[in-house]
Amino acid sequence: MAAALLGRQLVLVLVVLGVTAAAAAGSVVDGLGLNWGTMATRRLPPKVVARLLTDNGFRKVKIFDADARTMSALAGTGVEVMVAVPNDLLAAVAADLDRARRWVRENVTKYTFDGGVNIKFVAVGNEPFLKAYNGTFDRTTVPALRNIQRALYEAGHGKVIKATVPVNADVYDSPPDAPVPSAGRFRADVAGVMSELAHHLNATGAPLVVNIYPFLSLYYGGAGFPLDYAFFDNSGTAKPVVDGNATYTNVFDANLDTLVSALTRVGLPHLPVVIGEVGWPTDGDARATPALAQRFYKGLLARLAAGKGTPLRPGARVEAYLFGLLDEDAKSVAPGRFERHWGVFTFDGRPKFPLDLTGQGRAGATLVPAQGVDYLPRRWCVLNPNANTTDGDAAGSNNKLADNVGYACGRADCTPLGQGCSCGALDAAGNASYAFNAYYQAQGQDESACDFQGLAVVVDTDASRPGCNFTVQLVGSPAAISAVHAAAEKAVAVLLALLLLLLA
Ligand SMILES: *[C@@H]1O[C@H](CO)[C@@H](O)[C@H](O)[C@H]1NC(C)=O
Ligand SMILES: *[C@@H]1O[C@H](CO)[C@@H](O)[C@H](O)[C@H]1NC(C)=O
Ligand SMILES: *[C@@H]1O[C@H](CO)[C@@H](O)[C@H](O)[C@H]1NC(C)=O
Ligand SMILES: *[C@@H]1O[C@H](CO)[C@@H](O)[C@H](O)[C@H]1NC(C)=O
Ligand SMILES: *[C@@H]1O[C@H](CO)[C@@H](O)[C@H](O)[C@H]1NC(C)=O
Ligand SMILES: *[C@@H]1O[C@H](CO)[C@@H](O)[C@H](O)[C@H]1NC(C)=O
Ligand SMILES: *[C@@H]1O[C@H](CO)[C@@H](O)[C@H](O)[C@H]1NC(C)=O
Repeated sequence: MAAALLGRQLVLVLVVLGVTAAAAAGSVVDGLGLNWGTMATRRLPPKVVARLLTDNGFRKVKIFDADARTMSALAGTGVEVMVAVPNDLLAAVAADLDRARRWVRENVTKYTFDGGVNIKFVAVGNEPFLKAYNGTFDRTTVPALRNIQRALYEAGHGKVIKATVPVNADVYDSPPDAPVPSAGRFRADVAGVMSELAHHLNATGAPLVVNIYPFLSLYYGGAGFPLDYAFFDNSGTAKPVVDGNATYTNVFDANLDTLVSALTRVGLPHLPVVIGEVGWPTDGDARATPALAQRFYKGLLARLAAGKGTPLRPGARVEAYLFGLLDEDAKSVAPGRFERHWGVFTFDGRPKFPLDLTGQGRAGATLVPAQGVDYLPRRWCVLNPNANTTDGDAAGSNNKLADNVGYACGRADCTPLGQGCSCGALDAAGNASYAFNAYYQAQGQDESACDFQGLAVVVDTDASRPGCNFTVQLVGSPAAISAVHAAAEKAVAVLLALLLLLLA
């Protein structure tokens, strides 16, 4: 009797829990997705990340390849996926329809069974027309897009899965003498290819995907860019931009409408646009803080929930993929130190700030952390307080400490040490400890990774300072070496600069 009652109560509790979870999962703001990048030295297992997505109710995710382990983790979740053909495959796919067919067979068809992966888009390239690429992909992107779309049709996916190209917002602007959204046009060097791309997307019923970063507008905008104009809650503190009948109180709307104007100029005023990346980093710059990120996301989600559209597209539903899911400590820091801190969650899947994904801004709404995360032991590598730091090193340099810190920071993430960053107030000894620990953790706490010519020692008391976390890394799987190396190469210049700073 008692057992039966207990059983009934248990069922009741489970039903209630189930209903609550479903309600939470079902109410994420319409059109919201998330970017899942994997440029980290040690990664959470894909299954843990997939569960993090579904536990928080995300129904859309954008990835940067079609990695088999990622794809199998997404199988059966029902989450809509945008897979990607990376830039380095564009030339081959453009030149050879068979190459496109093979890509589609191995990375789309293979997963489109019942209980497989719910693929909705194929991103052909990633920001291929970025100014920094000097035109490298200008001639191959649209042909690659055509081949992939054709291969999708041939394989019977054409109606459900659309191929598109995510572009950076640097493919359009307004002329200096008319700096308003209504004057938007495509950048001169890519105007032809952007028009061709837009017309192709229109013909196939695919949206254009664009990445818009108010944080970068602020970061590169210099002193002339008012902070509040980067946010959605600007109540006039930053002077609005008046453009004919339209008034812009935030740079996101102004940026998106600049694109709408550029599309109008090529005869496609109604081409659907999806925001492929939008977000705010939380470290690596004085304005990259959890508080400002929370403010940004709160405004963005409220905006998506309100379905207000923009002045040129009033009432339009905006689909947006946040950037990003997790911090990625192996990304190139060429754009800035903040580049490794875009996660809504920390590298290990802990929410960085409270956020109501329904867009209602309910106080107390929180994100669900990753479950089943395996950490390395609670051990840290720090500067040995008894070490003689002025002792010369093997290379005959007197700057033994700086040399070792430079070595560590060249191979692990030291971006929080920058001025105005979370660990920017450490003294030289604190800097050294931070750097040694970052390297030791990235190396999976390998014993030999905490030596630094006798300067370092392993401790078992948390070396973190207030606001400055000395992390314990994941057991995780070390990242694909090639990706990390590519990022490391790009970052060499910046790391050298960092090293010089440390030596100074
Ligand atoms: C499928 O995608 C994976 C991961 O991005 C890539 O390594 C592989 O080359 C692709 N397959 C084909 C046949 O192109
Ligand atoms: C683009 O050109 C600049 C200046 O000539 C050069 O520094 C950079 O390495 C080039 N980038 C690529 C991807 O070719
Ligand atoms: C865009 O596509 C639609 C539907 O296929 C077509 O009717 C229209 O003519 C296209 N617009 C342009 C400007 O090509
Ligand atoms: C501005 O508003 C006026 C009056 O509502 C309207 O006639 C005009 O077409 C609008 N102009 C633009 C560019 O939307
Ligand atoms: C540290 O090393 C330097 C250079 O070898 C030496 O001159 C100095 O006496 C040493 N200091 C201590 C405290 O051992
Ligand atoms: C710590 O490192 C940062 C750069 O990584 C540097 O700006 C700062 O000056 C260093 N602090 C000390 C006291 O050496
Ligand atoms: C620092 O990171 C560890 C995991 O590496 C975590 O357990 C801890 O809560 C973090 N501390 C803070 C203050 O965020």
